[in-house]
Amino acid sequence: MGIRLTWLGHSVFTVDLDGHTVLFDPFLTGNPLAAAEPGDLNPELILVSHGHGDHVGDTIDIAKRTSATVIANVEVAHWLSGKGVPHTSGHNSGGSHSFGFCTVKFTIAFHSSSLPDGSYGGNPNGFLVTGHESGMRLYYAGDTALFSDMELIGDERIDVAFLPIGDYYTMGPSDSIRAIKFLRPRYVVPMHYNTFPPIMQDASSWANRVSNETSAMPIVLDPGGSFGLPQPG
Ligand code: NI
Ligand code: MN
Repeated sequence: MGIRLTWLGHSVFTVDLDGHTVLFDPFLTGNPLAAAEPGDLNPELILVSHGHGDHVGDTIDIAKRTSATVIANVEVAHWLSGKGVPHTSGHNSGGSHSFGFCTVKFTIAFHSSSLPDGSYGGNPNGFLVTGHESGMRLYYAGDTALFSDMELIGDERIDVAFLPIGDYYTMGPSDSIRAIKFLRPRYVVPMHYNTFPPIMQDASSWANRVSNETSAMPIVLDPGGSFGLPQPG
């Protein structure tokens, strides 16, 4: 098996990992680029990187309907439980846990994290997710600035990295190039851009820079577009 990813706009991805569906930061309602309805999605796991509304999004509705386990920091997981989400798993930076078909490790992210009602949202995170069957590994950075410890994350051998490029609230295109040099993924997918006017970016010129300046292969998708990663040779 392996990894097949679909971009649903903003930082929303469904990833088929070794035949299991993982949903990231499902902000669909109110997302002008949303390429799916919340009711279309049937994930086994939902990963939420931090408390902001453009990341928590439709998590509550999707989790209640599907009984998916929501994996987030302890504060966001506790808040979601209080909203009636049946299965949550709360963690913190540096922690990892096995969820049957994959292991999720929480990485640091440099950003903020308050919940939509103003509740404290803990610290923001990224995720390293490793499929047990294929051994393939993805890194989902969440919302973050560039940080040099990405070099340590890169030592874990990343097949595909998901990085914000929108600037304004997160790293922008130039810092993402520096991030890719630290992370050394085989493939890199941009996120958190073009959703709103402050984060408009030219993804094709970003992709040219990735190809010319790093060893990674850029994967630029239209909302709704998918890409399947070949197994490492
Ligand atoms: Ni945010
Ligand atoms: Mn955001």
